[in-house]
Amino acid sequence: MLKILGLMGSPRPGGNTDILLDSLLLSAKEAGAAIEKVHLNALEMSPCIECGACNETGVCVITDDMAPLYGKIAAADWIILASPIFFYNITSRTQALIERSQACWAGKYLLKLGPYGGKKRKGVFLAVGATKGKMLFDGVLKTARYFFDAIDADFEGALLYRGIEAKGDVRKHPRALEEASGLGNAIAKGLDLSTITYLYHP
Ligand SMILES: Cc1cc2nc3c(=O)[nH]c(=O)nc-3n(C[C@H](O)[C@H](O)[C@H](O)COP(=O)(O)O)c2cc1C
Repeated sequence: MLKILGLMGSPRPGGNTDILLDSLLLSAKEAGAAIEKVHLNALEMSPCIECGACNETGVCVITDDMAPLYGKIAAADWIILASPIFFYNITSRTQALIERSQACWAGKYLLKLGPYGGKKRKGVFLAVGATKGKMLFDGVLKTARYFFDAIDADFEGALLYRGIEAKGDVRKHPRALEEASGLGNAIAKGLDLSTITYLYHP
């Protein structure tokens, strides 16, 4: 069964990112996928401390709640990374997760250990922001790209929504939830995402 792991990077449970991610995950579940959602803010997670230990082994030596997440990422066929925009960036907790994927990067590029967890996977990025600036997602798309590369996930696309601010406002967005649920369905059914026009294609 296809395994989809959703990484929820907003500190606001039930907020816009969470609602959007749920739409995707629940429709994927209805279409037959196994889903799991992790609220990153509920975890005790340090950023990377740059100790360099993973350069020798490909394994992070910090023993906190990130430890079991490595295994979940390794087992997943799809990673859905979801974050609101905070100061033109992803949230700090999402950034902590990404920094900790340095261990995967070291395994891949320094130690040449082969695909993370023994297989390749795919990745999708979801982001929401309050403002409408043209370049709102430029920085976070780069960050998402390099995260997915470190964990051996092909970056398949992104759903990016502007002008969404108050908790739950995403429900008033004309298309967002429909699109997220359409994407979840497409992922679970193994459809070709390159034909989905509402998806940002990296
Ligand atoms: C600390 C903080 C910083 C923010 N910075 C930005 C920003 O730089 N650009 C923007 O468009 N929205 C910004 N926002 C607004 C959020 O991205 C927006 O409210 C989003 O819908 C929150 O999603 P959530 O409900 O999933 O947490 C910021 C919000 C907070 C709390």
